[in-house]
Amino acid sequence: MDSSLNNSNIILDPLKLPQHVAIIMDGNGRWAKSKGLPRVYGHKKGAEVAKKIIYKTRELGIPYLTLFAFSKENWLRPKEEIEALLELLKIYLDAEFKEMEKNGIKFKVIGNKEDFPDDLQEKLNFVERATEKNDKMVLCMALSYGGRAEIIEAIKKLAEKIKEGKINPEEINEKLFRKFLYTTDIPDPDLLIRTSGELRISNFLLFQLAYTEFYFTPVYWPDFNEEEYLKALYSYQQRERRFGRVYEF
Ligand code: FPP
Repeated sequence: MDSSLNNSNIILDPLKLPQHVAIIMDGNGRWAKSKGLPRVYGHKKGAEVAKKIIYKTRELGIPYLTLFAFSKENWLRPKEEIEALLELLKIYLDAEFKEMEKNGIKFKVIGNKEDFPDDLQEKLNFVERATEKNDKMVLCMALSYGGRAEIIEAIKKLAEKIKEGKINPEEINEKLFRKFLYTTDIPDPDLLIRTSGELRISNFLLFQLAYTEFYFTPVYWPDFNEEEYLKALYSYQQRERRFGRVYEF
């Protein structure tokens, strides 16, 4: 492991760790540009960082991690960049599948898997099925994901059930609606991290982020490391979460 990842002074309270961390891994392109390298190098380094953060999350005992790896809007990027991103994903799945098994990590995709080429879809399905019973951590990968599309798809599925007479509109509440989201069975994120200095959520988990704590850092994703991750988790531990209520002491 990179030795620079080991000498942190940050001490976390193990009892106050988030149960679900979601990350918008932004800034790969700018990182590469700042070094005079093609954008694809930024993604390559970004994938290595993602791998380290996944295992650190597992080591800390945080049970859910969601990574925004490819958005619906990313299809509008140049063909070569899209191909490079899909290739990195394939390499990741091939190289890490055994490690996921060993570490008890369950892999789950949220988004429109069917937008991807058949071979990649097969790989994603294979890893999802093969890791289904793992119960130490869920690694949720947002792929061809868009928050508005997720909500609209959920409404369509719900409307179908109503049309079939299986659900009465009176019964609709938050709990029932959640069953139609991609994230059924996954608790809402406690902490959202976005790298690269952008202060927006870019159509990510729009329904699920309602009470999430946000952490924005100017660090580009390829420079994000264990120390930066611990800083984000430490910042989270200093927050008082009220969920719209008042706590008087
Ligand atoms: C944002 O940087 C990042 C992405 C669009 C892709 C994220 C993908 C990875 C980190 C690699 C794949 C991950 C795995 C686990 C295989 P950007 O290109 O928008 O950067 P910019 O805003 O500086 O241009």
